[in-house]
Amino acid sequence: MGHRGAKALAPENTLASMRAAAAAGVTWVEFDVMLTGDGQPVLFHDDTLRRTTGAEGEMARTPLAVVRGLDATRHFTQKYSKAAGLRFRGQPECRVPSLEETAACLLELGLTPNVEIKPTKGLAVETAETALTRLRKLWPADRPAPLISSFERASLAAAKRVAPDWPRGLLAEEFPADWRQAMAELDCVSMHLYWRRTRRADVAAVKAAGYAFAVYTVNGVRAGRRLLDKGVDCLITDRPDLLVPALG
Ligand code: G3P
Ligand code: MG
Repeated sequence: MGHRGAKALAPENTLASMRAAAAAGVTWVEFDVMLTGDGQPVLFHDDTLRRTTGAEGEMARTPLAVVRGLDATRHFTQKYSKAAGLRFRGQPECRVPSLEETAACLLELGLTPNVEIKPTKGLAVETAETALTRLRKLWPADRPAPLISSFERASLAAAKRVAPDWPRGLLAEEFPADWRQAMAELDCVSMHLYWRRTRRADVAAVKAAGYAFAVYTVNGVRAGRRLLDKGVDCLITDRPDLLVPALG
């Protein structure tokens, strides 16, 4: 599964990143969904605009009309490739996309989304409700259903109410002691854990209980191979160009 599209190959959480993920051969893409100041779902990871766009301010205080104009190439250019970043800069598909534009792009590319609900403070329920109500109107019933994940259990509970038939994944940085109860209550299909905190015994227990196990964010082939050996089902990666040919 590509992470934020394919974060190391094109600017994260943009349509260009979804295309890069598809070109690298993944079938699933993870991305983060947050609400703008006027309550519109867009693809974005941070509370503040600066890292990816260079703009000042907070997403939760910025209206969609402004967000749509933001070019999201800054972090990619700084972290991965100045030359590629400059080629991406200014392209329409490198702006911060709406959830609706993203759904259309994924349908065209034949990719299935893992929608991570990434609410700003206090908006766990509203972010899930708005995002999923919108996505349900656009996502055809004959396509594989989106997988909804979140670190926020209130978002997953809202997802269960709004889209009960769409699968849910419990995201965690540390393996949660109460995983059995949480996954049962939220009716999850999968655990999504930080890869460095992933132990063989925990993978075995989760899988024995009938759930799938995904790990984020795995960018090395050796680490990926070790995790698959532990029984992990899905590697969420910034580098599908490396991992798909080696391990796919
Ligand atoms: O969904 C997996 C991963 O994206 C969770 O962490 O911070 O990259 O959204 P983060
Ligand atoms: Mg994420």
